[in-house]
Amino acid sequence: MSLAPISVATLAAMKAKGERIACLTCYDASFARLLAGAGVELMLVGDSLGMVLQGHRTTVPVTLEQMVYHAACVSRGRGRALLVVDLPFLACATPERAIDAAGRLMQEGGAEVVKLEGGAPMLDTVRRLTEQGVPVCAHLGLLPQSVHRIGGYRFQGRDHASAEAIRHDAVAMQEAGASLLVLECVPAALASEIASMLSIPVIGIGAGAGCDGQVLVLYDMLGLNPGRPPSFSRDFMAGQGSIGDAVAAYVRAVKAREFPGPDETSY
Ligand code: KIV
Repeated sequence: MSLAPISVATLAAMKAKGERIACLTCYDASFARLLAGAGVELMLVGDSLGMVLQGHRTTVPVTLEQMVYHAACVSRGRGRALLVVDLPFLACATPERAIDAAGRLMQEGGAEVVKLEGGAPMLDTVRRLTEQGVPVCAHLGLLPQSVHRIGGYRFQGRDHASAEAIRHDAVAMQEAGASLLVLECVPAALASEIASMLSIPVIGIGAGAGCDGQVLVLYDMLGLNPGRPPSFSRDFMAGQGSIGDAVAAYVRAVKAREFPGPDETSY
């Protein structure tokens, strides 16, 4: 097993070989060590921390300062995993703001890739960031930072026009220089088609088993949320003796293409 740090090139090579990529969200150094020990290749400091750590109803209140703080915590425990960090709400309102925010996430937080939500309106920002040497993970489908505009956390890409827009934006993001793409809550057939069209790795959440990798919110897959878990998630803690075992079971299930299963997939 290689001990070399995982880069965007490593993930692209995994995609080319058909090896699935295991990703989880992570917000602190202790969990980061645990995830690294279980073989998680990509850790995402998601702004979902606003909901699972801070108790907000949405990710909107999360600040850049908080993202820098949690990124720095995770970066100390991440081992060889690639560290992707979310640009929070409105950090990409202009390309200049996005460049400044990415600079802080990378220089103070240790981010290796920054993730931003949105399609066509974000293309110029993706181009500008990549020109400056900032690797970008695009995020399409359900955009949690836009929850107040959408009116709820709903599956996307179910009708012809919205599926076509997601397909088109995915290709445009790759052409603009994005190194990774997260697809959230879209039909499995659409996600799988996009994954085979693109050369960059596509990481799915609620997007079926045809993506190149999977990501879940750590607290959901550990069964730590008191409410009803998302339909596409699984409680990997069930039947396991430790958090490390639960995370290792998740990594195995992703690699073996057993997760997500048919009941965790939207068609
Ligand atoms: O913030 C987050 O955790 C995310 C994942 C749901 C992909 O963006």
